[in-house]
Amino acid sequence: MNELLKELRGQIEERTANVAVVGLGYVGTPVAALWAEAGFQVAGYDIQQKKVDLINKGISPIEGKEPGLTELVADVVSRGKLRVFSTFESIKSADVILVMVETPVDDQTKLPRYKAMRAALKSIGERLKPGTLVIIESTIAPKTMETDVQRILEKTSDLKLNQEFFLAHCPERLMPGRLIEIIRNYSRVIGASSPEVGQVVKAFYSHVVKADLDITDLLTAEIVKTTENTERFVEIAFANEVALLCEDLGADVWKVRDLINKREDRNMLKPGAGVGGHCLPKDFSLLTAHIRDTSPTKVIAAAQEVNDRMPIHMAQLLLDGLRAAGIGDVNGYKIAVLGYSYLENSDDIRNSPTAVLVNVLESFGFDVEIHDPWVEEFKHKSVYDVALNADAVVLMVAHDQYFELGWRSIIMALRHKVVVDGRNVLGKDKAKELGIIYRAIGVGA
Ligand SMILES: NC(=O)c1ccc[n+]([C@@H]2O[C@H](COP(=O)([O-])OP(=O)(O)OC[C@H]3O[C@@H](n4cnc5c(N)ncnc54)[C@H](O)[C@@H]3O)[C@@H](O)[C@H]2O)c1
Repeated sequence: MNELLKELRGQIEERTANVAVVGLGYVGTPVAALWAEAGFQVAGYDIQQKKVDLINKGISPIEGKEPGLTELVADVVSRGKLRVFSTFESIKSADVILVMVETPVDDQTKLPRYKAMRAALKSIGERLKPGTLVIIESTIAPKTMETDVQRILEKTSDLKLNQEFFLAHCPERLMPGRLIEIIRNYSRVIGASSPEVGQVVKAFYSHVVKADLDITDLLTAEIVKTTENTERFVEIAFANEVALLCEDLGADVWKVRDLINKREDRNMLKPGAGVGGHCLPKDFSLLTAHIRDTSPTKVIAAAQEVNDRMPIHMAQLLLDGLRAAGIGDVNGYKIAVLGYSYLENSDDIRNSPTAVLVNVLESFGFDVEIHDPWVEEFKHKSVYDVALNADAVVLMVAHDQYFELGWRSIIMALRHKVVVDGRNVLGKDKAKELGIIYRAIGVGA
């Protein structure tokens, strides 16, 4: 075994390796805190001074229901195990560097926009010391480890891969709402620059992850991650298609889904008002990015068409509900929209389906007011105040708070008793009980 790699393995086993985490977002914050809790000295790096200041005060920058995270960040910072920085000087002492910056796609071309990752790699490469292991946890297009990561690090550091530094791609599988639980308990795929490097990376992850750690090559790991998110995106599209079909047939997709899923080997996903977040709406584009011109995919494009249509379909359901209430010309009518984040109980608003819906509604002439208990801009008024004198309520996100509402008083506050439900918050039976005009994804009249 390479002497530098052998030395690193010893440091990892004894937890004396210095760990650096670059990018302190939904992925980087819990990862930094968990490895600090595991006994490593961890340094975090982020270009947002505000985040750096918060974390150094022991405050997690992530809002939303995130069990265990607030306490964990406070604990490791107070014990001096985690310190974070907005400049990169001290990264030169790191033995293991984890990169988890954002990796979006371009709005127009849908090709990867690696501005953040390339900048991070340059900052790292210019300070890389021999013997360092660099792990990319960000989701990347297949072949990026070769075309971007290795190339930039070798060029900026003047060090040679597998001789003087080592590389791995260990894509993150977490979801907001379950950050800590998933990192600890979900199996991980380790793509490594050599099988020996893979064993050292496995030793590193086994300090925190209590599940299988499967070693493979870099390209396979890249394809596994982008494919697993693409699979979910396509399956949601299928559920959405069945929901539209149930509406036309006059059936209830939630009953259909329950009965299908009684079969143990079936798992139909939930249909809904749209797919958002940083990952699902772009990871399918990453999957095919390097073979865009020759890509044989057909199903993925169809799935995108179906999923993109869902917030627009919500607007159509609203118009239909208002027509049933006797309203034709909608100009100036007030709509209360509940939920702006892309996921229940989260503050993450990236690629929010509600943003798409609101644009459509405003173009129709509606006056839209938004509520979201987790999003700073929309959390200061109560649901009741937002709904007061509205002509309809549109439910876009299944936040716990919306299930727990006193719906009778909300309905009483409305001018017209129309509710459009994109997440099965009320359901057909409760809607009937409330005596409202109810339109919902997947529920036929
Ligand atoms: N959010 C999720 O649920 C999730 C799940 C699995 C995988 N991922 C993947 O993980 C990666 C990160 O996602 P995220 O949701 O944590 O993103 P995020 O936007 O929450 O966090 C990224 C952080 O990186 C920082 N950053 C940007 N450029 C930097 C630089 N040059 N140096 C240092 N810091 C820099 C940003 O300021 C930001 O705080 C993405 O590739 C994403 O696809 C995310």
